[in-house]
Amino acid sequence: MKLRLHGFLNPLPPGPTSFPHFSYQMGKELYENPLGTLMKYHREFGPVFTLRFLGLEMVFLIGPEANQQILVSEYRDFSWEKGLLGELIPFLGYGLLTTDDEDHDRARKLLAPAFYPARIKSYGERMVERAVAAVEMLDSGDIIELHGWTRKLALKIAGDVLLGMETSEEKAAFFAEHFEKGLSYYGGYFWQSLVLRGPGTPHSRMKKHIEKLDEVIEEEIQTRRRWPPGNSQALLDLLVHAEVDGDRLSHREIRDHLFTLLFAGHDTTAATVAWLFTLICRHPEVYNKLQNEIDEHLQGQQPTSEDLFGEMPYLDQVVKETLRLYPPAWFGPRMTNKDVEVYGHQIPAHTHVTYCSWMTHRLPELFPDPEAFDPERFTDEKFRALQPGAYVPFGRGPRTCIGMRFGELEAKIIVCVLMQRFRMELFPGQQFCVRTVPTISPREGVEICLRDRE
Ligand code: HEM
Repeated sequence: MKLRLHGFLNPLPPGPTSFPHFSYQMGKELYENPLGTLMKYHREFGPVFTLRFLGLEMVFLIGPEANQQILVSEYRDFSWEKGLLGELIPFLGYGLLTTDDEDHDRARKLLAPAFYPARIKSYGERMVERAVAAVEMLDSGDIIELHGWTRKLALKIAGDVLLGMETSEEKAAFFAEHFEKGLSYYGGYFWQSLVLRGPGTPHSRMKKHIEKLDEVIEEEIQTRRRWPPGNSQALLDLLVHAEVDGDRLSHREIRDHLFTLLFAGHDTTAATVAWLFTLICRHPEVYNKLQNEIDEHLQGQQPTSEDLFGEMPYLDQVVKETLRLYPPAWFGPRMTNKDVEVYGHQIPAHTHVTYCSWMTHRLPELFPDPEAFDPERFTDEKFRALQPGAYVPFGRGPRTCIGMRFGELEAKIIVCVLMQRFRMELFPGQQFCVRTVPTISPREGVEICLRDRE
């Protein structure tokens, strides 16, 4: 990670002064109370402010206009690859998430067919099968840690529909294990681990997991190259047989796309499901209304993609409101490619900046009484009336989440299947701390007691 000290030479927008420059204190505050700390500086300095922590200077750009500028009108002025999350490149390589400009446009065109509605519907069938099988393993009276449980399920689903590994459970489990262990490098240790190198460091452990994952992927690619096109509907097969400008993709390109989608696609869904139950279990009136919709609409049948897109409006509202309060991909770091002006503030080229859905979603002028959990904010009519850039849990513009429908469908299926079988209750006395990297999720998980339905 490059340390940036250019604030001394090119003044950045205002923010709390923090000497020494490597402000441990700020890092600690952000770790312990991320949203509270950010909102405090927003109140003090307004929608553009600079924080200095652990050797990094980061300008926060908050609100719908900033979101529109970064994500839509001037998105080419903001580089994803050079932004803070470019640190993911050693793990993910250069896939859709981590590239800019022509490379990004090319990758987006290549992957788009895998996310067409018809494809998503077919993934839906697999999602239901997997979710039903996972719920059948549970019993009334069990206490489960819901975030971890959903994460495993989402990774299995991704293994099926992205990698096509459903016939080799053992290999899929091996892959999932090393993928999670490799990724944990970016969770617990994030800031510290990025600078430590050498044997025994988190970085070298992460590299070892990558080697194992690469071996599996290499073998799978070799196998799929021998299969005729159309033999499997998995994304891996689509990539193996894809041609771009007459060329086949290299092993490395295929690997990077797959890793990126697996990374972007499983913890986001798991966090959504975990927060959704945390919220509805504390709001029985919402829980009961949702339960009624699920029961009335599905009549004891398994959900289908058709049910979940458009035909269960309250479920949709509850998911939207969950993603307002806890948007898993809560910040969108970029680096400015040139001098830019945001809300009248001059920001020099090569500055770390970020938009922040989590903060934008808590602005009272956009969402009155923003701390309250109220799915009624997202009736169709109210949703359409929102200002552009006000609600961005999936980003916006040319880099909008490509897996949006995939993730929504998956989260809704898991919610329906769980609620059809059990009454979900929060294990009493839990304190919820938020983990912020790489997604907002409950740091210690969410313990849920499963009860029989009356
Ligand atoms: C509830 C679930 C999800 C949420 C909240 C979510 C959120 C987001 C957000 C906010 C971005 C934009 C990041 C930025 O602007 O820097 C994004 C991008 C992306 N997401 Fe998702 N995501 C979800 C599920 C998924 C799934 C299931 C997949 C894949 C199967 C996926 C793949 C991606 C990819 C590849 C990108 C990069 C798109 C690009 O740059 O063109 N996401 N996601």
